[in-house]
Amino acid sequence: MEQDIMNVIGNLDALETLGRMTSILVFIIGLILAAIVVMFVIDITQTKDAVRRNYPVIGRFRYLFSSLGEFFRQYFFAMDREELPFNRAEREWVGRAAKGEGNTVAFGSTKSLAPPGTAIFVNCPFPVLDQDRAETKPLRIGPYCAIPYDAPSFFNISAMSFGALSVPAVRALSHGAKIAGCWLNTGEGAISPYHLEGGCDLVFQIGTAKYGVRNDDGSLNDDKLRKVAAHEQVRMFEIKLSQGAKPGKGGILPGAKVTEVIAETRGIPIGEASISPNRHPEINSIDDLLDFINHVRDVTGKPVGIKAVLGAYGWVEELCEAIHERGIESAPDFFTLDSGDGGTGAAPMPLIDNVGLLIKESLPMLSDIFHRYGLRDRIRIIASGKMITPAGVALALAAGADFINTARGFMFSLGCIQALKCNKNTCPTGITTHNPRLQRGLNPEDKKAKVASYHHNLVHEVEVIAHSCGVGEPRGLRRMHVRVVQDDGKSRPMDELYPRPEPLPQYANAN
Ligand SMILES: Cc1cc2nc3c(=O)[nH]c(=O)nc-3n(C[C@H](O)[C@H](O)[C@H](O)COP(=O)(O)O)c2cc1C
Ligand code: SF4
Repeated sequence: MEQDIMNVIGNLDALETLGRMTSILVFIIGLILAAIVVMFVIDITQTKDAVRRNYPVIGRFRYLFSSLGEFFRQYFFAMDREELPFNRAEREWVGRAAKGEGNTVAFGSTKSLAPPGTAIFVNCPFPVLDQDRAETKPLRIGPYCAIPYDAPSFFNISAMSFGALSVPAVRALSHGAKIAGCWLNTGEGAISPYHLEGGCDLVFQIGTAKYGVRNDDGSLNDDKLRKVAAHEQVRMFEIKLSQGAKPGKGGILPGAKVTEVIAETRGIPIGEASISPNRHPEINSIDDLLDFINHVRDVTGKPVGIKAVLGAYGWVEELCEAIHERGIESAPDFFTLDSGDGGTGAAPMPLIDNVGLLIKESLPMLSDIFHRYGLRDRIRIIASGKMITPAGVALALAAGADFINTARGFMFSLGCIQALKCNKNTCPTGITTHNPRLQRGLNPEDKKAKVASYHHNLVHEVEVIAHSCGVGEPRGLRRMHVRVVQDDGKSRPMDELYPRPEPLPQYANAN
């Protein structure tokens, strides 16, 4: 009897639970239907979006699918060599190099060597034996400066501003560069304590807004410049004329990214978008440019160079002639040549897509101009633009670069997954966001080792290419070590495609 009563009570409980669940389900379905009705009314009455007005509610899925499509294409559908700006094979190479994992691959190359423009290194029948490999020596920049710089590494970290980058990203790069023995360029966002923290060599970039060394009206403040130069770690100064991703446009840092520490570092108000002028207002001509370079060098006593992407013809020749009129001490100590397809934190699409020459064309051009004017050894060439794997770096050295910089290569070493949200403060890997929750994922202690490991493995594999071509060290690579595939499927030597011109007779002994 007692058992029967218990069973009846149990059944009643079960019925009650079922009833409660049914009510919840009905409530949820009601809510969904109500939301659909609300969305339907909103969509049909709004006038800004034709798709949603013509296909209320259903039209919204288009936006959901187009953003999910980006994700699915990257992970499931894109082939190893397909994606842009960097394909999976390149990104994974950097990832493995950063983790120090073996970088051998099996079975055969997934890269087609047939497309026109493909560069092929020409191996030598008698490669350099491991015991005969030569050490890459430091290369002097700024021989006429009070404090020249003997730069130890040919592979370095390109300009990325603090602001575009987060605090933990700058810290990881600073420590990583110290371990690697390369320089870190501050970018145009000035120098922060996090840049100094690791003790690495620094290149201070003077952007068009002169963050960190500016007066309130945006002009150069010599006292602040002297203070920056007083840091022993600051080895060189780079005057940014243009950047490959946005020539003719200044830096753009959205207000959401201008935190207290960034505002203080740059010398600007908190929370306001930080937009720099589209060029240095005081540099209107080649003469102004040389005046400015020499002024910064006089104040700092350290090497001073310029950064630009090539576009218009003639101005580099004009610069070389003006240098000879003044004397070769007046030359910029280096020229950082950026590629038209370089990266950025944020840029307008027409500039990022369509303006500025690519490095593979502009690098031999620039190197040859300096050679013709007898300035090739005076002005060091630093090349940047998608050189994140050993082949790209070796190719640039062969074409005429003294040093290679990369920004995005080192971002990948920090864990960048190419989510392409650097301009939104929502970077999922903590590299380009100032949201503390997202920054938590980026541990500078762990990442500094990855930065250094990427640098180490890249340099090592550039050496492997050099040795295969029969030269003792990477700076021994020349254009004759590369052939470039042509439209007819045959390859031609790079030194035939870009023959070294003779120096102009009047400048033959200038170097
Ligand atoms: C997030 C980010 C921030 C950058 N900030 C600067 C900058 O402040 N100044 C500058 O001259 N270039 C800046 N660049 C451009 C890089 O220094 C470099 O010239 C360009 O990305 C090409 O190199 P890469 O292809 O190896 O990235 C930035 C690039 C990125 C991706
Ligand atoms: S993960 Fe995405 S948002 Fe973050 S740095 Fe890389 S590309 Fe930019």
